[in-house]
Amino acid sequence: MSFNVAVDGPAGAGKSTIAKAVAKQLNLIYVDTGAMYRAMALLVLRNNIDPSDTDAVIEKCCSADISICYQDGEQVVMLNGDNVNPYLRTEEVGNATSVISTIPKVREKMVELQQNLAASSDCIMDGRDIGTCVLPNAQLKVYLTADSAVRAKRRYDELAAKGQVCDLQKIQADIEERDYRDMHRETSPLRQAEDAVLVDTSLMTVEEVIHRLVQLCLERQN
Ligand code: DC
Repeated sequence: MSFNVAVDGPAGAGKSTIAKAVAKQLNLIYVDTGAMYRAMALLVLRNNIDPSDTDAVIEKCCSADISICYQDGEQVVMLNGDNVNPYLRTEEVGNATSVISTIPKVREKMVELQQNLAASSDCIMDGRDIGTCVLPNAQLKVYLTADSAVRAKRRYDELAAKGQVCDLQKIQADIEERDYRDMHRETSPLRQAEDAVLVDTSLMTVEEVIHRLVQLCLERQN
């Protein structure tokens, strides 16, 4: 049986940074499920479809060919044959993703893909519904969170480092709106699984969080 770690939490809690580092240390595959939903949102935006037009989104997404592969240890999302990684991490795509990911049909398609991946490999998977829905039997579940002001500052620094002009207050407002939508949607809302370990990273360094998760993984692997 494969060893699966589920990491859930709100936007900007550090899930991908931490999960990627833990994957490297413990030789697990890192699965970024947000990137899969982002690829669907990108497809919607590229086709000038309004993300809240549910029927049009379902039609486009259900016929889309999406898969992930690994190049030099990095997850690459392939959408209709193209590597779309460079276009996924903008605020526009992030906000549209939060809207289209409320649609059950879109989620069904993504969950199936994620469960197949986890069944065939030792992995650490991050998202919003991994511990509660995608991998209910994961050997370790972590709920990673931080204050919204801290998360907004982290996202601001990340975008600024890429040279993107941004406004801290707007980022915080977007993060809070996205949290609300992710936590209150009908299908698979973001919530801490009952058997998940809560890790609040507001006052922790990245190294401290990685260390904590590696320790938790080692405890569960034995
Ligand atoms: O983790 P992220 O910021 O890349 O996620 C983008 C959006 O995708 C987020 O607002 C909620 C959605 N998402 C989801 O609904 N379920 C997941 N497993 C992962 C992401």
